[in-house]
Amino acid sequence: MSQVKVNNIALAFEDTGTGPAVVLIHGYPFNRSLWNEQVEALKSEFRVVTPDLRGFGDSDSSAGTVTMDQMAQDVVAVMDHLGIQQAVVGGLSMGGYVALAFYKHFRERVKALVLADTRPQADTEEAKQTRAQQAEKALSQGMGGIADAMLPKLLTPETVSKRPEVVKRVRDMMMRTKPEGAAAALLGMAARDDQTSLLGEIDVPTLILVGRDDAITPVADSETMHREIAGSQLEVVEGAGHVSNFEQTAVFNHALTGFLKKLGD
Ligand code: MLT
Repeated sequence: MSQVKVNNIALAFEDTGTGPAVVLIHGYPFNRSLWNEQVEALKSEFRVVTPDLRGFGDSDSSAGTVTMDQMAQDVVAVMDHLGIQQAVVGGLSMGGYVALAFYKHFRERVKALVLADTRPQADTEEAKQTRAQQAEKALSQGMGGIADAMLPKLLTPETVSKRPEVVKRVRDMMMRTKPEGAAAALLGMAARDDQTSLLGEIDVPTLILVGRDDAITPVADSETMHREIAGSQLEVVEGAGHVSNFEQTAVFNHALTGFLKKLGD
């Protein structure tokens, strides 16, 4: 693990392998270890950078609201630090919100996009209120309640009942998250822009992945992105919920490596 001081905080990241750069951005309330299996699969042919977003993993937190734009600025600062001019930028769920914000602000730095289990829309008013309540809850009670409530929405019922090691890993990741980091990200997600109109402007190769049973960002959201992003590729991952890279690693990695290899150097 490495750390760099950027934008007034210490950000942790992993920089593994050599080859064309791929930056993978984790979702909420996870950390860079979400991508361990993808790093393993890619590192012999790609340079894979996995940051811990502000407030997550081994990165510092900052109080208040951490917007998707701020997170995108942190990611580009890590790329600057590593001397990476352009990369494939991928994100899962909140990481996808950050990837879209990244594209909006730094499109010349994006060689291609990977949008996994995510969506372009902003939150509804109701969802914004729920986020504010969850932020309060994280700060007053810690991550236990949030992790328990989220788990059944993250994984398929089959995985919850038959794959305790997957359940444990997802839960452990959530429990490691600092409540103040989770709260700031929740408020940031509530404040995020609607990126639907950006989709038609995306002119880099784009891979969209989604678990067939994703209960948080359903397949319909990925179908919308696929329709709007010219030339995009859509992979619906059978037997997976919201954390499709964890639940169906082989299928996810096959689609990801196939997409990356086609891009060339
Ligand atoms: C995530 O997995 O990053 C979050 O569940 C996304 C969200 O709550 O909108």
